[in-house]
Amino acid sequence: MEYGPAPESAAPAQQWIATHSGAFDLYIGGVWRKSVAGETFETFDPATGQPLAAVAQAGADDVEAAVEAARGAQAAWWELGAHGRARYLYALARQVQKHSRLFAVLEALDNGKPIRETRDIDIPLVARHFYHHAGWAQLMPTEMPDYQPVGVIGQIIPWNFPLLMLAWKIAPALAMGNTVVLKPAEYTPLTALLFAEVCAEIGLPAGVVNILTGDGSTGALLTQHAGIDKIAFTGSTEVGRLIRQATAGSGKKLSLELGGKSPFLIFDDADLDAAVEGLVDAIWFNQGQVCCAGSRLLVQENVADRVYRKVRARMETLRVGSPLDKTTDIGAIVAPVQLERITSLVQQGQAEGATLWQSANTCPSTGCFFPPTLFTDVAPSSVLAQEEIFGPVLVSMTFRTPAEAVELANNTRYGLAASVWTENIGLALDIAPKLKAGTVWVNSTNLFDAASGFGGYRESGYGREGGREGLWEYVKVKERPKTRSASIATPKPVAKEVLPAANALPSIDRTPKLYIAGKQARPDSGYSIPVLDPQGNVLGHVGEGTRKDIRNAVEAARGAGSWAKSNGHLRAQILYYLAENLAYRSTEFAAQIARMTGQNHATAMQEVDLCLERCYFYAAWADKYDGAVHQTAGRNVTLAMNEPLGVIGIACPTESPLLGLLSLVLPAIAMGNATVVLPSERYPLAATDLYQVLETSDLPGGVINIVTGKRDSLAEILAQHDEVASVWYVGTPEGGKRVEHASTGNMKRTWVQDETQCDWRDSVVGQGAEFLRQATQVKNIWIPYTDEVSW
Ligand code: NAI
Ligand code: MG
Repeated sequence: MEYGPAPESAAPAQQWIATHSGAFDLYIGGVWRKSVAGETFETFDPATGQPLAAVAQAGADDVEAAVEAARGAQAAWWELGAHGRARYLYALARQVQKHSRLFAVLEALDNGKPIRETRDIDIPLVARHFYHHAGWAQLMPTEMPDYQPVGVIGQIIPWNFPLLMLAWKIAPALAMGNTVVLKPAEYTPLTALLFAEVCAEIGLPAGVVNILTGDGSTGALLTQHAGIDKIAFTGSTEVGRLIRQATAGSGKKLSLELGGKSPFLIFDDADLDAAVEGLVDAIWFNQGQVCCAGSRLLVQENVADRVYRKVRARMETLRVGSPLDKTTDIGAIVAPVQLERITSLVQQGQAEGATLWQSANTCPSTGCFFPPTLFTDVAPSSVLAQEEIFGPVLVSMTFRTPAEAVELANNTRYGLAASVWTENIGLALDIAPKLKAGTVWVNSTNLFDAASGFGGYRESGYGREGGREGLWEYVKVKERPKTRSASIATPKPVAKEVLPAANALPSIDRTPKLYIAGKQARPDSGYSIPVLDPQGNVLGHVGEGTRKDIRNAVEAARGAGSWAKSNGHLRAQILYYLAENLAYRSTEFAAQIARMTGQNHATAMQEVDLCLERCYFYAAWADKYDGAVHQTAGRNVTLAMNEPLGVIGIACPTESPLLGLLSLVLPAIAMGNATVVLPSERYPLAATDLYQVLETSDLPGGVINIVTGKRDSLAEILAQHDEVASVWYVGTPEGGKRVEHASTGNMKRTWVQDETQCDWRDSVVGQGAEFLRQATQVKNIWIPYTDEVSW
């Protein structure tokens, strides 16, 4: 039977645009203002190519005004209190629902996505997000009593889910007491402008939400503005990189949700019909313009032909056409430039020898349309398999064994999501933890909910949106009065010239080496650096590590992969054993610290005692840092699991040479990471004395590697290394900037602190939840269940 067209009327959206005379200003401080420079640009309906409206292009003066408005509103918004903010968030949810038809039509017009999706998926999820976060606003005082808002947040969003991405950004920010300046994407500004009206309608205090339309240059101005405390970005990995570089050293918090090339794995025992239906959602939802689209089909070889036949048959039934037609499956590509990008990648794929298949269904001849496309015979290293196409293009490869499936799945720079299809729950739950992805859907795909975090591993970015884990992006620890100054009081000593005493035998020189893979290793440079006491007397020498030593240390850390798989109980036992061995030699360590730093023995002994306590603290946490089962909408168990990051590079503070080091290393290894540690540059002997303690504590080689030398240069080398997943740096602002700037190769996480602000002896700031969060990343595994049996 043929479908007849079932068009949704565009009239409400057209009327809304007409009431604004087809032109929109900027929403700043609760009022509509023209851009100071008076520039505008047009947004189009990609299905027809017709212009929809003119919107303002925000420039530097407008960014200035919006940041000022947000700053001016922030204190009052926070002081309004939890319940007050919850009321407003609830009102936003209600109002979005009341205008849901208008929002759905406007979104379909401006973006080109099918009305079926905007009506049934985008807009309901937007409302759900505001409801859910009204709850978090209410609960903040009891659930996060030690936290306060970050301040003014700059938010830059893409065009693929315009209103949904706005909700993901604005709801948690407002719930936690921040104010925002949001820039929608230049192709899809309209629903954000309608949302600004909704903010005005509910009487949201002026300046809490500011909407600036504009292109990438407006985004760049926002990221560079000194008055912004955090940037939240969703978009391409390329722009994510630019933003990391532009914000390096500025102290801004940063969360990035970037590209993906997510695998969709079908094992031979899967329900193949269900899997193929899932695949349709994975790659043809939203024309494939989905950061977590299941764009790489990996299918077990013995069922591949059957799967391909079913996919091709299903593709024949997909209707490409007008977004406003309720029977349309695939709407328009957002803009001509994206259509060109897709076309060009598809041509490259054909030139590389992959086999293309498209259905016989035709696309409309005007507007931006691209037919659903399947590629087989795709080589794992080809452009098609590696590049994010961001269109309705599925590429396929086969595997023979589960191990090969995991290897292929992880053969990508990205790590946003994955789908696993098998009827064998044991196999699914074996594969899911092995996939490098922030979300894993078992026998399902593209499930989202406000109660679950969403975000990437690797070059898909960092930070989470949604759920409790998403809230941390919008809070910081409450400022506390300092118990004592941690600043470096002692000036750097100058070496004395030492004349040998007459008749004295030369002392037996001991130059500690580096510690790599559980063994002492000579530095590659062959050079050593003297360690001086405060009077300038030489206490010893340490090796000067180089790039080569860092490479070896990272390789050793990568070789310690089984540590990540070991259980928390085992890791706890090793940390207790470490404490035992350290306690046995505590006097010796205290003496060394006292000699290096000039502190009295009692103070140094206190530092060692605190180290012992910290060993116990993280031994305690090693088997207790539980994940969660999120209560996502629908019938799912959504398991939020805390996973280690992999290799963490740790640059230690100058002061508290033993406590500073252990405060950072212990949480990292307790959570299953391996580390490359750069000890205090001035007082490294506490670290080198630690080798023996590590050796006697059953810690596997490679879990802690120690490279002495010039801390800031070595930290930058660690930040450049693509096998390092995160760098923690405690040092100077300049060194921190170098680390953040160098981190963009593999988009690694960074955690930078100013050493003059850290008091390691303070047990509230020197240890705790923030350290555990920095040492882990949350993976959400969705396992749907169905009512197969009715009682
Ligand atoms: P984009 O990353 O340029 O755009 C995203 C947002 O960033 C937009 O609001 C844009 O105005 C803004 N922006 C651009 N340059 C900026 C800068 N220098 N500083 C601050 N903000 C800036 O993405 P684009 O060019 O629209 O799409 C290109 C490709 O990126 C797509 O084909 C797709 O592969 C990928 N992409 C991925 C998305 C995701 O959700 N992961 C979303 C959009 C695009
Ligand atoms: Mg548009």
